[in-house]
Amino acid sequence: MKNEETDNPRRNGEGLENPSRRTLLRGGVAAAGGAALAAGLAARGAGAAISQHADPLITDVQDWNRYPGDGVDARPYGLPSQYEKDVVRRDVPWLTADSKSSVNFTPLHELDGIITPNGLCFERHHGGIAEINPVDHRLMINGLVDNELVFTMEDLKRFPRENRVYFLECAANSGMEWRGSQLNGCQFTHGMVHNVMYTGIRVRDLLNEAGVKPEGKWVLAEGADPSLMTRSIPIEKMMDDCMVAFKMNGEALREEQGYPIRLVVPGWEGNMWIKWLRRFEVGDQPWQQREETSKYTDLLADGQARRFTWEMDVKSVITNPSPQAPITHGKGQTVITGLAWSGRGKIARVDVSLDGGRNWQEARIDGPSLDKSVHRFYFDFDWDGSELLIQSRAMDEQGFIQPSKDELRAARGTNSIYHNNGIQTWYIKQDGSAENVEVSS
Ligand code: MTE
Ligand code: CO
Repeated sequence: MKNEETDNPRRNGEGLENPSRRTLLRGGVAAAGGAALAAGLAARGAGAAISQHADPLITDVQDWNRYPGDGVDARPYGLPSQYEKDVVRRDVPWLTADSKSSVNFTPLHELDGIITPNGLCFERHHGGIAEINPVDHRLMINGLVDNELVFTMEDLKRFPRENRVYFLECAANSGMEWRGSQLNGCQFTHGMVHNVMYTGIRVRDLLNEAGVKPEGKWVLAEGADPSLMTRSIPIEKMMDDCMVAFKMNGEALREEQGYPIRLVVPGWEGNMWIKWLRRFEVGDQPWQQREETSKYTDLLADGQARRFTWEMDVKSVITNPSPQAPITHGKGQTVITGLAWSGRGKIARVDVSLDGGRNWQEARIDGPSLDKSVHRFYFDFDWDGSELLIQSRAMDEQGFIQPSKDELRAARGTNSIYHNNGIQTWYIKQDGSAENVEVSS
């Protein structure tokens, strides 16, 4: 969907100078929102009676009905319908100086279910996309091991395989929203997350093949792209559930996602999921100087920094309706839907509020509930056409609950751009349009 506001860098730039895009008082819509709460499904349902419609789309023969279409040889690699051409990743040009060290965003408002299609997974890379012929690719293990080893792709595929669905979220997701509501669409506020099924092998099997020495406590993972991205990861995590993946959603990794292999670090921040993976070095401590780990610490208000904040906190967002996906059908039967996820396990529960967090009702989770994977939730209600302040709040199986943005700022200040898992509010107007706002109590 074209959205003037989000597609126009200048207007977004203006928003930056005035970070609090809009703060609404909860009281404003409370009465109307409250009225919608108790109602059952509407008298006005979702269909139209046949007798009232002499609809030519029903009564007349259409072109697609009359002429034969493309044959089976026309689309050797299938693409979405031409009518879905606006369903694409988008970037925000003013966000970074150069598109080769930048990010684009998953169009969450256009998707459903829990799996992100490969061509729509957001991309984050620091030196552009490396194009590697798998025949020329190697994975090396060196450092504190009994046998330093080099694997070809063929070697890697001889280890036992696993299939796992995991979300990957960049630690900077929602980072622009720390100081106030900023970007007008969940694609931009929350779109640095994707969720696919990985096929790959266990890192544990590779490390065991090399034989980690007792002093080996950390593993440096290194990428083959020009950014020479490296990250230090504790050996316990690597031995627990990390994977070297070569497929996503059944087919080869996309080049953007690290073809031919990437590291999968379930539940942990995206920057550790090294793409174009070419080396593991086992050491006795993290390689902090070398890799500017300091960039991925969270500076608190008092000047102290949180470090090793690897696990992604419980989080959720309503994807529809949202600024890029307004309600266009008028009042009556309405579906609210969104995504919830946690780096600490499964999602136990999602609540939805229609009145800026005064009243909450439990949403329905539908689809697979998997460990460290996104969950899809729905909230079906009868919209009376009045203004709403819609929010979702997730709780994970360990009992962590998503905080309000005010609670988050009280705890962490506003110095960091990382790990913003605060509750998102969309202001739904009477015409069904939606705006990114914050509520203050
Ligand atoms: N790996 C390499 N080699 N180079 C990179 O620039 N970026 C990291 C990580 N792995 C990066 C990398 C960051 S910050 C994130 S959030 C994820 O990859 C993004 O993964 P994606 O592009 O599949 O969404
Ligand atoms: Co990142």
